[in-house]
Amino acid sequence: MAKKLIGPFTQLLPLTNMPLHGALADSSLEIIENGGMVIEHNCIVDVGPYVALQEKYSPTITRVEINKPAVCMPSYIDCHTHIAFGGNRAQDFALRNAGATYLEIAEAGGGIWSTVQHTREASTEELAAYVMERVNALIKQGITTIEVKSGYGLSVDQEVKTLRAIQQAQKQVPVDLVPTCLAAHMKPRDFDGDATVYLDKMAAELFPILLNENLTNRIDAFIEKSAFNAIEIRPYLRSAKEQGFDITIHADQFTAGGAAIAVEFGAVSADHLEASAENEIQMLAKSDTVAVALPGASLGLGCAYAPARRLLDEGAILAIATDWNPGSAPMGQLMVQASILATAEKLSNAEVFSAITFRAASALNLSDRGQLKRGQLADFNIYTTSNYQNITYRQGTLLPQQVWKSGKLIYT
Ligand code: NIG
Ligand code: FE
Repeated sequence: MAKKLIGPFTQLLPLTNMPLHGALADSSLEIIENGGMVIEHNCIVDVGPYVALQEKYSPTITRVEINKPAVCMPSYIDCHTHIAFGGNRAQDFALRNAGATYLEIAEAGGGIWSTVQHTREASTEELAAYVMERVNALIKQGITTIEVKSGYGLSVDQEVKTLRAIQQAQKQVPVDLVPTCLAAHMKPRDFDGDATVYLDKMAAELFPILLNENLTNRIDAFIEKSAFNAIEIRPYLRSAKEQGFDITIHADQFTAGGAAIAVEFGAVSADHLEASAENEIQMLAKSDTVAVALPGASLGLGCAYAPARRLLDEGAILAIATDWNPGSAPMGQLMVQASILATAEKLSNAEVFSAITFRAASALNLSDRGQLKRGQLADFNIYTTSNYQNITYRQGTLLPQQVWKSGKLIYT
């Protein structure tokens, strides 16, 4: 396949030469004016001023001309979603807005358990279709890598069904899905035995199937009063680590504690963190565990945001994801949520963009995407605007004109 020169762009933001950890001023954003990019197959070959690239690669190169104004950036990575679910929780949402709390609704038989029942009723094909529909909504926002958790099956067979549905959806969508097993979302109400017996069974029976069928290499656990505590979860995480899985944790959503366990186990990420206090902030800051803020859950529940500013100032790696799920975060709009978090927590554009590109890639243990430089996947978005600042200014309502994934135009 011939090389392609894409451009010229009014502004090209490669998001390179930026540290993985800590605060970022907008002065750290390299902006290539009248920029261009050379791609071949699925990867980036070169990035720089358009005219210079034209001279360097002429005459054989195929040109893909872009009408100005145009801003080009890496496409986005949503590193935390629960989009493999059946049913809907509009009733929970209404009850919550009428005064009931998330925990009260869960204890009264709503919450995660009601989604489990609807998800169990869906066939693998139906569940795959739900995933694809939601993936398509994310693609329009310029998201080309999407983490998708199970966790509404909560039995060996139903968790396997969910992860097979994600695998089936992967074959029919033009973006990368990163599956994660969240069998440790809560102890299912119909399980005869305590939390430890449930988790032991999952580790013994489900983990080998995940590995044999190549369904996922990632294990997530919800550490919370309504889910699993530290004593229950440690043997489960130890077993996951021994079997070679990456660990990610739903941590400190309502009560602090989970982030410390995430760091203890060398988790790739600790997500939520709305209730993290100084101790958790310091632990995350000193680690390589990515701190993932989920403003969609704060907006969906009407709760506090994760202390994103403090985390960055102390040196943590901050990513931002949608947490798209039927209960706490039904919106599924990454840039809307990231730019709202930016106004609440005072995040620079550089911090917002890095949190949904290369820092989110790190939360998924992926080093081949999230920046525009030679050797990275050619995953990028083109906006019809002359200034990158308009992207957060418009708070998610300015959508990309073109979305490219692995060197292919997948949405326009
Ligand atoms: O990330 N916190 C736990 N899990 C989800 C909510 C799932 C649900 O309410 O269905 C979350 O917010
Ligand atoms: Fe979540």
